[in-house]
Amino acid sequence: MSVAIVGGCGHVGLPLGIAFADRGLETLLVDIDQSAVDLVNSATLPFLEPGADEKLAKVAGTTLRATTDASELSECEYVVVVIGTPVDEHFNPDPQAIPQAIEAVAEHLRDGQLLVLRSTCYPGVTALVERLLARLGLEIDVAFCPERIAEGKAMTELYTLPQLISARETPAMERAVCLFSTLTETTIELTPEEAELAKLFTNTWRYLRFAIANQLYMIANDHEVDFEKIRSAMGEDYPRAADLPGAGLAAGRAARPRGARRRVGPRQVLIPPRPYTARHPPSGAHLPEPAVSVATEINDILVDALAPVRLDILDESHRHNVPDGAESHFKLVIVSGEFEGQGLVARHRRINRLLADQLAGPAHARGLHTHTPGEWEARGESVPASPPCRGGSAAESARG
Ligand SMILES: NC(=O)c1ccc[n+]([C@@H]2O[C@H](COP(=O)([O-])OP(=O)(O)OC[C@H]3O[C@@H](n4cnc5c(N)ncnc54)[C@H](O)[C@@H]3O)[C@@H](O)[C@H]2O)c1
Repeated sequence: MSVAIVGGCGHVGLPLGIAFADRGLETLLVDIDQSAVDLVNSATLPFLEPGADEKLAKVAGTTLRATTDASELSECEYVVVVIGTPVDEHFNPDPQAIPQAIEAVAEHLRDGQLLVLRSTCYPGVTALVERLLARLGLEIDVAFCPERIAEGKAMTELYTLPQLISARETPAMERAVCLFSTLTETTIELTPEEAELAKLFTNTWRYLRFAIANQLYMIANDHEVDFEKIRSAMGEDYPRAADLPGAGLAAGRAARPRGARRRVGPRQVLIPPRPYTARHPPSGAHLPEPAVSVATEINDILVDALAPVRLDILDESHRHNVPDGAESHFKLVIVSGEFEGQGLVARHRRINRLLADQLAGPAHARGLHTHTPGEWEARGESVPASPPCRGGSAAESARG
């Protein structure tokens, strides 16, 4: 069995390719990113994905190869497409992006192949691709089999999550089931339209849960009480409330500048000035991008310098008398082994040095909580709520 993955050096394509190759499939990764292709061919992951490096070392150069040359697609029985889903300036996904990428390589596709769409896509994209192939006179079966892993868990979830499989015709369905049965025991069959919506509804439900948690966090903050303490009390031996997630930008995507390679860092918590609400429903896999430019810089600097095991960057500007989106007041919770043996003053000086540029502007870290992992555990993994703003809170200002 031979499989090509277009977008094969990305966060989804590469773990999938490694998993197929590890199960003995001849696997070809096709990607436009030459540097990622070179890294993969030298058995180096371009990003962190726990458990993938050992497997890559085993399969690179044997059952797995990466290339930028799309002409090799014609040699593969299966072609999986898992490129990213571009969004426009309003975060609307571009339904033409995947058909256009396929059209660009169509001269290298051949009759009899199975084309598996795996990107999170706008509803109807599978039908657009089917029409495109018919227009090009290609007799190629199409399946839509969305990826549902979370980054950092790919090398376990690829083997344990049920795989949604969809296709219009039985032969295509059977071939897609055959491909993914090399990885996972359970496959669930749907129509393409059902599968497209199942993937989007899954993301929507996840993001709504984060949005609600952020909203409740802000309400707790406005009452100057600790959201985490309330959440833990709510869930203790009370299963109906135990699934309330912690506050924060837990999906991780929006903090990454488009096109930049993502780091798998510690759990990052970015509380945007206004949390995600139903006013901004997520589209595709993409969260609306909040005004996190300073928070993003702070995140990247601290992750690089301190490799924290926990990093909360809480934008509390909304509690102060500043314009919307000001990014003026931050509370930082940093838990890092780098603080071992250092006193509080030395830790704070180090943070202030690291963030000198960010804190020189309108932004300032009002609350700085620095702990070693041991100290963090000993204090029950919580920090005190921030005190009220001395310069007048936003609520006071609104009262006039
Ligand atoms: N990252 C996740 O956790 C995750 C989980 C589930 C689903 N998804 C979905 O999977 C898709 C891919 O996401 P990702 O995180 O892997 O993105 P990514 O940006 O990490 O990877 C995409 C890869 O495609 C390559 N690429 C782009 N255009 C190409 C083209 N025309 N030909 C060949 N290669 C091309 C890029 O160079 C990149 O290596 C998206 O639709 C995303 O929503 C992602």
